[in-house]
Amino acid sequence: MSDSAKPPVLLCDYRAPAWRVTDVELEFDLDPAATIVAARLAVERDPSEPAAPLRLDAEQLELLDLRVDGRRLAPEEYRFETDALTILLAVPRARIETRVRIAPDTNTALQGLYASGGGQSRFLLTQCEAEGFRRITPFPDRPDVLARYTVTLRADKARFPLLLANGNADGAGDLDGGRHWARFVDPHPKPSYLFALVAGRLESIEDCFVTAEGRRVRLFIHAEPDAIGRCGWAMQCLKMAMRWDEERFGRCYDLDVFHIVATHDFTMGAMENKGLNVFNAKYLLADPERATDDGYRHVLAVVGHEYFHNWSGNRVTCRDWFQLSLKEGLTVYREQEFESDLASRTLRRIEDVRVLWRAQFSEDAGPLAHPVRPDRYSEINNFYTATVYEKGAELVRMLASVLGRDGFRRGLDRYFERNDGRAATVEDFLAALEEANDVRLSPWLAWYAQAGTPTLEASERYDAAARCYELTLAQHTAPTPGQPRKQALPIPVVVALFDERGARLPLRLDGEAGTAERERVLPLLTERATFRFVDVPVRPVASLLRGYSAPVRLRWNADADDLAVQIRHDDDGFNRWFAADALSRRLFAQALASGAPDARQLDVWTRSLAQALADPALDPALVAEMLSIADAGSLAEGLVDIDPDAVHVARARVETALAQALAAPLLARYGELSGATDAQAVEPAAQARRRLRNACLAAVCRADPAQLPLAAAQFAQARNLTDRLGALSVLLSAQAAGAEEALDAFAARHAGDALVLDQWLTLQAVQPHDETVEHVAALTAHPAFRWTNPNNVYALVGAFALRNPRAFHRADGAGYRFVADAVARLDTLTPQVSARLATAFGGWRRFEPLRRALMHRELQRLAARDALSPDLADIVGRSLA
Ligand code: ARG
Ligand code: ZN
Repeated sequence: MSDSAKPPVLLCDYRAPAWRVTDVELEFDLDPAATIVAARLAVERDPSEPAAPLRLDAEQLELLDLRVDGRRLAPEEYRFETDALTILLAVPRARIETRVRIAPDTNTALQGLYASGGGQSRFLLTQCEAEGFRRITPFPDRPDVLARYTVTLRADKARFPLLLANGNADGAGDLDGGRHWARFVDPHPKPSYLFALVAGRLESIEDCFVTAEGRRVRLFIHAEPDAIGRCGWAMQCLKMAMRWDEERFGRCYDLDVFHIVATHDFTMGAMENKGLNVFNAKYLLADPERATDDGYRHVLAVVGHEYFHNWSGNRVTCRDWFQLSLKEGLTVYREQEFESDLASRTLRRIEDVRVLWRAQFSEDAGPLAHPVRPDRYSEINNFYTATVYEKGAELVRMLASVLGRDGFRRGLDRYFERNDGRAATVEDFLAALEEANDVRLSPWLAWYAQAGTPTLEASERYDAAARCYELTLAQHTAPTPGQPRKQALPIPVVVALFDERGARLPLRLDGEAGTAERERVLPLLTERATFRFVDVPVRPVASLLRGYSAPVRLRWNADADDLAVQIRHDDDGFNRWFAADALSRRLFAQALASGAPDARQLDVWTRSLAQALADPALDPALVAEMLSIADAGSLAEGLVDIDPDAVHVARARVETALAQALAAPLLARYGELSGATDAQAVEPAAQARRRLRNACLAAVCRADPAQLPLAAAQFAQARNLTDRLGALSVLLSAQAAGAEEALDAFAARHAGDALVLDQWLTLQAVQPHDETVEHVAALTAHPAFRWTNPNNVYALVGAFALRNPRAFHRADGAGYRFVADAVARLDTLTPQVSARLATAFGGWRRFEPLRRALMHRELQRLAARDALSPDLADIVGRSLA
């Protein structure tokens, strides 16, 4: 293994900081080639640590000056190493002054201070989470050191007219030599990862929001000149988020100004820096010509997410990075609720569950599995994962369902009140929920500590004579790396019972008196439990795990006709889809095992979906989701010795069988939805109609390629990006005659629009064709692609590696080679991106022997390289372990 792997940091080694920093004054002389950062830190020793030296993290800094209480230190009074500046201090408090030089222009890691954009509009910005602040100035760069910041920026006025840092503005003016300055004071103590500055020639839009507490807040969005016209939707979303957090969770904003800045050069989605959020342009810009419906919804969700961090993350932050899910899981949950309240709850739930199954379950089933609260890491940036984010949100959702809406609100209020201005832990969170509700939640800690996806096995028995229905639930979690034995977890199983026409049946458990509820939570607290329902007049159809009430793999051999009853009648929209999905997975498994799905069950499935398609009362988005079967990655999840070609063929059989069985009604519905006059409307209802229309088009053309002219016509006439891309996707996957021309026409139409061209790259990267790998390799030379731009890399190489199992796993290993070469190349540029792409190899042991050997070889080839980044060394090391 490479020697660049850092030694792991362990949760059990946590110690409170020996030195605190109360106040920070920063002065920046900004210049892309060489920026000078002067820092003045007021530090205080913890009395219980009389011998501890002051250790400041420092990476890639050129130290120009170092003083303590005004006196320049002699060389023997400090140590300056590659990752730290250590000062021996005899006094209990001191003023530390440092001056360092850094080079934003050559910072392709995009951590710390770096430059974005090109030419005239090149501007400077920062990304500090998780450990980027140490690349700006020497500092105890850990989230439990909270300080008050005063920041002064100086820069050339013509090149950098806009200067921003966290907090409220506190003066500005001109300097000699065409330079100017601006000062900012952030009254809220914060950890260094929330620091941010921006300097550039950006354009701005402004709006205003009055909080429920009566504070008048100026709202700004800043973007490059060609993008500023696309920020209106984000501004609307911001105001909706601010109002929603007040109404739903009683949280108000706490500064006089709130800034958002858009950049095209960003490794992640966005960042919640205090009062100065920085966004990947992908999650901020939207207009009908250049954003899809999904794009609009993502802007809503991400603007909400970052804004909600102002409480869940900033006002209450994390004690250490092991607690990352404390802010991320909670904030994803809040974001999900926000979108659910404002758009479609059912659709958001389906999408979240699809992501959980595809990304989190597979992560949890391989060598990179880790608990929602990991207990060790060598590179924290590799833990911004589906487990910490999405599974973490599921844990919060379960707690909210157990406590009920009001109980959860009370608990969260308590959490914010108790921990305001502090760095908290998962225990603090559970304690607040417990106290406010007078319940015991300690069993839930196991969900945070234990990796792996529990399997929930359900079986049932109905006794007609006794009018009694027994539901037996059993749980099991397979071992994961470092956790050979698993304990039983509390699993809330929400159930309802129906008769075969969809009427509710009572839910009285044996021994209970009183009223029968319509839906209830069965708490499974042990390995296995049987729940006995009485007074059940007929054999019931059970609707289990309603709303996906726990992040488990449900194993339940429900009768196909019962699933059909649920698809037709369940009053939980999610479970209607869940039942349809279960049936399609069963058909897929049959096709994989024996070449063809069972004819009778196939008939049950297609008839159910035909009914859904014909039901004018059903949300078109839900129908579209029912028609879209799980992707190959999700279907293969849980299999061993995977043969990606066989998975592809079996999936295609099921998909084609559905399309053929429903060809006529699909075509009819497509026609009905085509007369829409709301091509530019972005309301959920208009989006839902487009979603269904595009699903119909795809199926119609799959059933009969003679219908492809419909796709060509839609492509030519489309008045929004959703319809244009939807049609293009159909043409490409059918390898239709006009597909090449359509691709070129699309690229010409959107030339110069990086975000749309990213989607164009992705569409080509996900085609399950044999020659896709060569095609993708060729596209890396396209002018719209740069290796230094993470959006480009994820759109092309990431989509190929993570969302095109057929082509990535091509039997000759060409897909693996291409991705491994890309990973190696990116590792010298942007290690975080390289490490994330390398996770495509993480599941190697689950494939058939040939693929397994080929993937293993690429991992070994990467491991053998010199000077791997710590990020990549960690992923490769854990994958091979
Ligand atoms: N806190 C950001 C969010 O809202 C993620 C930033 C992660 N950045 C990183 N380099 N690991 O989810
Ligand atoms: Zn977040």
